[in-house]
Amino acid sequence: MLSSDQILTKVNEAITAIQYPAQPAGLYEPIKYVLSIGGKRIRPVMMLLTAQALGTDINRVMPAAVGIETYHNYTLLHDDLMDRADMRRGMPTVHRKWDSNTAILSGDSMLVLACKHILSTSLPNINQAMDTFITTALEIGEGQQYDMNFETRTDVTQDEYIEMIRLKTSVLIACAAKMGAILSDATPAVAEQLYKFGEQIGLAFQLQDDLLDVYGDPEVFGKRIGGDILCNKKTFLLINAFQLANPSQLDSLERWITATDYDEEQKISAITDIYNQLNIKIITVDKINYYFTEAQHTLNSIPLSLEGKQSLHDFALSLINRSY
Ligand code: IPE
Ligand code: IPE
Ligand code: MG
Ligand code: MG
Ligand code: MG
Repeated sequence: MLSSDQILTKVNEAITAIQYPAQPAGLYEPIKYVLSIGGKRIRPVMMLLTAQALGTDINRVMPAAVGIETYHNYTLLHDDLMDRADMRRGMPTVHRKWDSNTAILSGDSMLVLACKHILSTSLPNINQAMDTFITTALEIGEGQQYDMNFETRTDVTQDEYIEMIRLKTSVLIACAAKMGAILSDATPAVAEQLYKFGEQIGLAFQLQDDLLDVYGDPEVFGKRIGGDILCNKKTFLLINAFQLANPSQLDSLERWITATDYDEEQKISAITDIYNQLNIKIITVDKINYYFTEAQHTLNSIPLSLEGKQSLHDFALSLINRSY
């Protein structure tokens, strides 16, 4: 069995080997750029680990794995535009290095290329795997729309937040695991259990992303610290702060969130101070651990070899312990 690091190396080799047309350079250069500047590749690795745990030759699943990573990178081009983000993976975002139209059009083309990669997988169940992917891709649009709707609301509940991150982030990780299962001809019950495992890990993963957005090391995280605060994102951190704040903290939060003319670093540090006073970091870590434990329970109930389970468990653990 290959380790997740060995699988990651293979994924990177497959991505590097893709040949794009030279022209028009304005369309293909940004695609090559975003796919070459790093990224953890967690979705393809999840798909291939699942397939491997079910005894499938991962080389045969690789086109679908490359497809899901291409799709993920497409969402990032559009997400960075929507979130007004200047930096990703320690590098300028596509809409900053080029412009908004470039991020839109190169992104759109990556969505198409993703489908092309997935459909080039020569395994019998590829159409069923594609169905799962399409359902998921539509859900991600829904999640992203809720994420944007929530920017201008102050009454977002924790349940609404969890559903939003399930849609924008978890379902793709779940889809990766399920596609690995479908392509391995697993039973529907096993495919659904692996989906559930991916979904629970995905919730922990997005909570960790929210946490790192405030508390990450700027040298390592690769994105601007405080980006969510500047966008008034209704993250788990902010929702909890609203719930736990005393009247003066609440007043301060409300003033910062409605302010239109302010110094960005001052806003980030004022809201971070309130998070610190309210121990929001600990509350978030507890929630991450809760979903990780749920995911472990789900994994334990799936009929996989011990080695297969161990590899998925270790990979999931590395996701919630990450610093970028
Ligand atoms: C970023 O995904 C978007 C989220 C769902 C948080 P990743 O954290 O997987 O980003 P890369 O691909 O490793 O850069
Ligand atoms: C991204 O969520 C979800 C998708 C890209 C679909 P975020 O907006 O939190 O991701 P980052 O922090 O920009 O990577
Ligand atoms: Mg973003
Ligand atoms: Mg976003
Ligand atoms: Mg984020």
